[in-house]
Amino acid sequence: VTTRLADVELRLGDAVWGRELQDLFDVAWPDGTRAPSGRVLDASLCWVTARVRGALVGFVNVATDGGAHAFVLDTTVHPDHRRAGLGVRLVEAGVAEARRRGVEWVHVDFEPHLEAFYAACGFGPSSAGLLHLPPA
Ligand SMILES: CC(C)(COP(=O)(O)OP(=O)(O)OC[C@H]1O[C@@H](n2cnc3c(N)ncnc32)[C@H](O)[C@@H]1OP(=O)(O)O)[C@@H](O)C(=O)NCCC(=O)NCCS
Repeated sequence: VTTRLADVELRLGDAVWGRELQDLFDVAWPDGTRAPSGRVLDASLCWVTARVRGALVGFVNVATDGGAHAFVLDTTVHPDHRRAGLGVRLVEAGVAEARRRGVEWVHVDFEPHLEAFYAACGFGPSSAGLLHLPPA
């Protein structure tokens, strides 16, 4: 599949929760990551979807502390549509909305091989901590 960015429609706050979003996660995430629920998205600053002729091919969630900080989560592009610039477009759209809403700092964490991807989205390096609390 050759993805032309001109064919991609980005939507802010698209009605996307449920099966459609989980189907995208099932093909995009090798580790069985669960798609965020409607309850999770209700607490978000915003989320952005990407569609090609109506079909969901991309997603990003931007969480918020309610103030100056926002957090990019669950950046996802369908494997058939990768390396066409769509992931960067999604993150940039989420960040633009965060800026519009007065956010000053946008955080993200990622595996080392995605450093170039988040650099392309405008993120610089930072030391950060992460604590995993697995469900009991
Ligand atoms: C990470 C992901 C969202 C990237 O989406 P994408 O649409 O392919 O990204 P883009 O086309 O916008 O990439 C822009 C640049 O980022 C870098 N990049 C993107 N994916 C990369 C990868 N897997 N490895 C190394 N560099 C990568 C490249 O420099 C790329 O530019 P190039 O194609 O000209 O070389 C996608 O691979 C994905 O959904 N992965 C599975 C889920 C995941 O791990 N999400 C990240 C959560 S933190």
